[in-house]
Amino acid sequence: MTEQPHNTSNALLEQIIADDISQRGGLSFCDYMQHCLYHPQHGYYMAARQRVGAKGDFFTSSSVHSLFGALIARQLHQMWQLLGSGSFTVVEQGAGDGFLALDILETLQADYPQMYAVIRYVLIDVSADNRRRQQEHLHRHAEQITWQNFDELGSFTGCFLSNELLDAFAVHVVEKHDGQLQEVYVVQGGQGLEEELRTVDGPQFAHHFERVGAGVMEGCRGEVCLAVQPWVESVAEKLEQGFVLTIDYGYPAQELYAPFRRQGTLLCYYQHTANDNPYQNIGCQDITSHVDFTLLQRCGEHVGLETLHFTEQYRFLIGLGFVEELVRLQAEETDPQKAMALRMTLKNLILPDGGMGETFKVLIQGKGVGQPELLCQRKISDISAAFT
Ligand SMILES: C[S@@+](CC[C@H](N)C(=O)[O-])C[C@H]1O[C@@H](n2cnc3c(N)ncnc32)[C@H](O)[C@@H]1O
Repeated sequence: MTEQPHNTSNALLEQIIADDISQRGGLSFCDYMQHCLYHPQHGYYMAARQRVGAKGDFFTSSSVHSLFGALIARQLHQMWQLLGSGSFTVVEQGAGDGFLALDILETLQADYPQMYAVIRYVLIDVSADNRRRQQEHLHRHAEQITWQNFDELGSFTGCFLSNELLDAFAVHVVEKHDGQLQEVYVVQGGQGLEEELRTVDGPQFAHHFERVGAGVMEGCRGEVCLAVQPWVESVAEKLEQGFVLTIDYGYPAQELYAPFRRQGTLLCYYQHTANDNPYQNIGCQDITSHVDFTLLQRCGEHVGLETLHFTEQYRFLIGLGFVEELVRLQAEETDPQKAMALRMTLKNLILPDGGMGETFKVLIQGKGVGQPELLCQRKISDISAAFT
């Protein structure tokens, strides 16, 4: 399949969007974003292109270093033991190029062969282009893996895993003026696409803000992802017993809608540069918004998913042995320059400023598993003990 060159906006998609705007008299931002990312032929995630990694538009933790997946494998192994060491399914939705799955399966095969022998790994991705990349990278573990559509997934026991899936779900954008919520629509203006504020129709946003106990403040803008609730409900329904492990950048609702975030959190990524203009590079740039982790927890509690642990990515990784592994990997590296490069790369996963440590959060929910003490909950203060 031919990959699209990186420096183009997609004229065909622009025309499709223009036609839809003219037919419907404007598109909610959510419908516009859905076109940009998920139009079946031309959407950013659907067309053939390199998205993740140095030649793409953004890095994800799994593209930074295999240690990320190796540590998650450690946590999955403990979850497997907690469920009785029997058959265990990992369902990963939104696996991108498949490197997280690869690092997990390689670690399980090398370090936990008994679990590897019984594991079933299901990959779900809307993008046929990403499924093709996953198949290419994961052929060594073909016996463990199946690819399915989300709707086809039956009930399972194990862990539902995602890394940077939910930030890519299409969102509604709302603003509050004179005490009234208004929704952003995309219309055709004289100079191209323009935004128009329209009165909110129906109670869905009010219900949303009531549920999360926070809201967009006067004069501010914010995003609302209405797709989260049905997603959590479906995951909970399919999960017979086990865990939901969600990793993404985001905040609890109070922080997400804090007044200092006047413009919301919508961001676009194009060739490793972030911008806040979703009306350029149409179909050729990623569009994301920060995840509302309060919403995930509230929706989960409603359908039997208990919150077991919610933390920053750096605490999660450190709990699973990040520091000890960093020391070990550095000691194995004989070239001092390579050792330094390794340290810098790995620091990216835990650094708060500019790195992925603090804005990235980890939520672990459980169904029918009680309140186990998870490996990732090991306190940072306990780590010094590992070096004595
Ligand atoms: C930002 S990438 C994350 C990639 C990967 N998890 C990683 O760590 O590198 C988002 C992924 O989610 C997929 N995706 C987005 N929306 C989806 C949906 N509704 N169902 C399944 N996959 C989806 C995209 O195709 C892509 O593979």
